Amino acid sequence: MRYIPPSNLRGHDLAPLLAARGHDPEWIQLNDFDPHSPQNVARYTYLENAAKIPFHYRSAVPSLPPLRAWIDTLVASALEWQAERGGPIASIINGPSLLLLGVTGVGKTFEAYGAMRELSVSGVYGEWAVTTAADLYAALRPRHGVDSEAEFRRYRGARLLLIDDLGAERKPTEFTEEINFRLINWRYENHLPTLMTSNVEPKDLAVRLGDRVISRLAEMCERVPMKGNDRRRSAA
Ligand SMILES: Nc1ncnc2c1ncn2[C@@H]1O[C@H](COP(=O)(O)OP(=O)(O)O)[C@@H](O)[C@H]1O
Ligand SMILES: [Mg+2]
Repeated sequence: MRYIPPSNLRGHDLAPLLAARGHDPEWIQLNDFDPHSPQNVARYTYLENAAKIPFHYRSAVPSLPPLRAWIDTLVASALEWQAERGGPIASIINGPSLLLLGVTGVGKTFEAYGAMRELSVSGVYGEWAVTTAADLYAALRPRHGVDSEAEFRRYRGARLLLIDDLGAERKPTEFTEEINFRLINWRYENHLPTLMTSNVEPKDLAVRLGDRVISRLAEMCERVPMKGNDRRRSAA
């Protein structure tokens, strides 16, 4: 892992995330020239993942207790793995998944990017891939000159994956069902931590995603319902 000097992390609103991890705001600024220190792992991981966070969610902080517990579980398992197998840094390898459910505007995407940010400064390494389900299908449409199978494997095998707005397409097609199934099945079989959001009502999930996907989701992830109104409309 490259050594990242503790510059240019100001202005990233890390204090609340570090506080949630039990650190003071200066924790991440330690300049010890050790590429394997938790602080350097946090700087490296944060900067790598921050590039994937949309501007609107750049200061997001997670608040849902089950989501915060999920973060703790992933950090703990990375540390356990390192204690058992050795290795210079702790990395997230396996873990449970989480599905945030709620109406449009309730704050699902905000919570998801907040979780990504908090996990990134935790001092364990975890590389995220992020996509909305709609962008994923678009990226995977077979077309000339693009190896969509290679693109698919990039998402399928990501250490940590955020799939935003799963099931939001108006009409599921054979193509989107196949992508959902292959993606979820792979991540289910390999215990790869996946954070998903959906505004589909729980009773409609099976119709939208299909029984094979729902059955795997039931085993691999906790469903977290989010209550509230559309924050975008309240703000307007
Ligand atoms: N805890 C929060 N604190 C401040 N703003 C929030 C919070 N949660 C959501 N928001 C804001 O409310 C709006 C809707 O949130 P978003 O996560 O995009 O909703 P959803 O993904 O459920 O449709 C966004 O502008 C977001 O930045
Ligand atoms: Mg959203």
